[in-house]
Amino acid sequence: MLQIFDFFAPCPRGLEVVLEKELEALAAKKIHVTDGGVAFSGPWTLMYKANLHSRVASRILWKLVEKPYRSEDDIFRLARDTEWADIFAVENTIKVSVTAVRSPVRSTNFVALKVKDGICDRFRLKCGNRPSVDTEAPDMRINVYLSEKNVTLYLDTSGEPLFKRGYRVETGDAPLRENLAAGILSLSGWTPDQAFYDPMCGSGTFLVEAAMIARRVAPGMDRQFAFQKMRMYDKSFWQNILTEAKAQELSAAPNIIMGSDVSSTVLVHAKANIEAAGMQDSIQLKQLNVLDAKPPAESGVWVCNPPYGARMDEKEHLASLYPQWATLLKQRFAGWNTYFLTADLDMPKHMRLKASKRTVLFNGPLECRLFEYKMIAGGNRDKPKEE
Ligand SMILES: C[S@@+](CC[C@H](N)C(=O)[O-])C[C@H]1O[C@@H](n2cnc3c(N)ncnc32)[C@H](O)[C@@H]1O
Repeated sequence: MLQIFDFFAPCPRGLEVVLEKELEALAAKKIHVTDGGVAFSGPWTLMYKANLHSRVASRILWKLVEKPYRSEDDIFRLARDTEWADIFAVENTIKVSVTAVRSPVRSTNFVALKVKDGICDRFRLKCGNRPSVDTEAPDMRINVYLSEKNVTLYLDTSGEPLFKRGYRVETGDAPLRENLAAGILSLSGWTPDQAFYDPMCGSGTFLVEAAMIARRVAPGMDRQFAFQKMRMYDKSFWQNILTEAKAQELSAAPNIIMGSDVSSTVLVHAKANIEAAGMQDSIQLKQLNVLDAKPPAESGVWVCNPPYGARMDEKEHLASLYPQWATLLKQRFAGWNTYFLTADLDMPKHMRLKASKRTVLFNGPLECRLFEYKMIAGGNRDKPKEE
């Protein structure tokens, strides 16, 4: 009988529903959405597919064991009683990290130390040797999750987080994480048959993610994963999954994907990233002030992440620009659905345009909104109302 495993995929907060849909499409079972991630179950090969195809998950964690605990000693025993040597070789380096929510433990560092001791004791018993710790680039990452009453041990099957697709060679001004960008594209409802435009593209994250979606390139196509070092790794099965994914790829995007930015320096970064992703034939770049932007098609989807003005003088400058952006949208972008990701929650007030939707998202620890403005073509009747 096919063995079923439990997994948990963390993701940027606000994108859980997007991840849920991705996992449903991969035929995951027992899907359960929580704050900051999605639990799911399925065969071992589902884990390969989730790592390769999820555009939104940050990692795919394999749930090894969950038990009630009272003290650090209980947690140590749980680690010591887990058969680690059946999962990976003693030559693999390890790193233990701990997340605690309402846990009574005094120090998460101490818990990490106890779990590391438990793993090493188990290995010594089994093979007379222990794995080394590597906090920089470990082969195996063990995640300990402590709730008020339960401890769960996870093994990270991804290794480097999944937003590291392998194409980012240059960063611009505050680049977005790739999985957050991909999730926002999904929330915008953009589909590859529609034109896409990011008029403040920075290092080009939305553009590359859009091009990869349009050309059906799996986000994990060009990287390695921790599961490739696990004992249960089946190389030929993995090769089959990669071959299948490769066969889906398209050589061109069905519609225009365009980016512009006022800064020539960030455009150099964008170009380098786009080329590293192999998407240069699918993306057009221009140096342009957003106020001079012209729609590259009659209708389409505009997604951008403007500067949000961390300093007071920047905030004031932005506040003076927002009404001009609103005028630009009304005058030139009728027929376009536009989305702005910003930490400046006052943006609609200054734009004097009422957003038709506001989605709460977190860019790392920073609380943001994705503001939606649907610029209806034709008469004034359906245009966004003044804020
Ligand atoms: C927060 S960054 C965008 C980061 C981008 N999403 C990425 O992932 O790299 C904001 C960008 O807006 C650009 N920008 C600022 N003012 C602009 C203007 N008036 N016209 C066009 N671009 C502008 C900046 O040069 C910067 O690259």
